[in-house]
Amino acid sequence: MAHTRPRKRSLVECLDGSSVDTYKFRILLPSGGITDLILRDPGASMFMEEFVGYVRREFERCEKSSADPKPSIMWDADIYLEDMSENKIKRRLIFNHFKTNKLHILRLHDGTGQNVNTYKNMWDLTPDTELLSELPAEYTFETALADLIDNSLQAIWSNGVGERRLVSVTVDEQGILIFDTGAGMDGSDENSIVKWGKFGLSNHRSSRGLAIGGKPPYLMPLFGMFGYGGPIASMHLGRRALVSSKTKESKKVYTLFLEREALLNKCVWRTDGGIRSSFEDEIQLSSHGSFTKVEIQELKTRSLETSQLQCRLKDIYFPYIQCDDMLSSRKTTMPIEFQVNGVNLAEIDGGEVAVTNWHSCNGPEFVLQLRFVKQGADASGISGSRKLQEANARLKCVYFPIVEGKESIDRILEKLEAEGCGITENFENFCRVCIRRLGRLLPDARWVGPTMEPTCGQFCRMRE
Ligand SMILES: Nc1ncnc2c1ncn2[C@@H]1O[C@H](COP(=O)(O)OP(=O)(O)OP(=O)(O)O)[C@@H](O)[C@H]1O
Ligand SMILES: [Mg+2]
Repeated sequence: MAHTRPRKRSLVECLDGSSVDTYKFRILLPSGGITDLILRDPGASMFMEEFVGYVRREFERCEKSSADPKPSIMWDADIYLEDMSENKIKRRLIFNHFKTNKLHILRLHDGTGQNVNTYKNMWDLTPDTELLSELPAEYTFETALADLIDNSLQAIWSNGVGERRLVSVTVDEQGILIFDTGAGMDGSDENSIVKWGKFGLSNHRSSRGLAIGGKPPYLMPLFGMFGYGGPIASMHLGRRALVSSKTKESKKVYTLFLEREALLNKCVWRTDGGIRSSFEDEIQLSSHGSFTKVEIQELKTRSLETSQLQCRLKDIYFPYIQCDDMLSSRKTTMPIEFQVNGVNLAEIDGGEVAVTNWHSCNGPEFVLQLRFVKQGADASGISGSRKLQEANARLKCVYFPIVEGKESIDRILEKLEAEGCGITENFENFCRVCIRRLGRLLPDARWVGPTMEPTCGQFCRMRE
């Protein structure tokens, strides 16, 4: 039998993975607790005393680390197991009655006649770590980086008057650093740094309804929807991430450390963290006293060249960096300060949006304002349900003239190529529609719509 030969791994392990001939059991105890057991290569069968010995050892191991009062189990009494079809197992456990790598629930009876129907911690809701290893192919370096920048943008947006709204991204061989001067996180329940790392614990989700409606140019960056963008993005970019954050209320900086291999191999997600004083540069960058810094090391994916990355990020966040859409004032505003490798993106004139704007017509804008309401939507507006049934869209059409006998689109493509930001499209299939959710470009939603075929050198390009 397996336990008699030397083995590298202990016979009893937590539910952390699978290999051939691995039997997983969840034992429901008469005291209302549960014990999980994994047996690797246990042989064809096992006497009940031996199996119960493993259950007991695992039970006592878990009990040691638990502060709860220990429920008593009569280990030496007439112990037997019962499966969910009420088959009793009294003498010997035959393993080919159980499928490998599947969880089997067995009830343990200790002869006391004690019988309960509810069990503490019966279901393990630790998220499926495969999410980390099975991301779609389109999930690129820039998409992941943008997921982290979305969080920063959302954080700085609610800063008060006079508080700096800075997002600073630094990418080099050593790693990636994303710094923002937003409200930050700390150790409190409301703003806990745990929310950054724990799937589904999101402060953003509850406010996303507020992004519906509002006034043009609809920039309120309430992007967060799912509550796991941060950890997924950072573990896609690199193998280790250190999050350091401070709120105005907290005197100290709270840190949280994520390590990809540990997350993939552990059955319970616990990570290292710490509390420290602010560094000098953090105080200088955010004089109002709150910030979040995400540092990613051991990069797994390669970044674009610095200038290409600057142009790409400027395209994605253009209206937040320089907003020309204030219809009333007609002035360019700079809602946020966005630096990439020390360069303020408002100061660069590269990127597809800037080049396209430059080569489009300066005449009066043709803007369509659309509002969609789902028929039958609850018109009472109670509890925000109505909000989720409506949507606003702003279609901005831009005219690309022929100047001195040359199509603007040709000039745009040439300029982008010359800047090292060339795109794979040509005159015929150049994307004429780009889509933004709030002010944020959805980079994969490039679309040449059926009604957008070129006619006589005039093109329509829609945004937002
Ligand atoms: N830069 C930041 N500043 C302050 N809080 C942050 C920051 N980044 C993340 N958080 C906190 O961590 C939570 C989780 O962020 P995460 O990106 O994982 O999910 P989300 O933004 O809520 O949803 P989504 O999965 O759609 O991105 C946020 O709801 C917020 O409370
Ligand atoms: Mg997010």
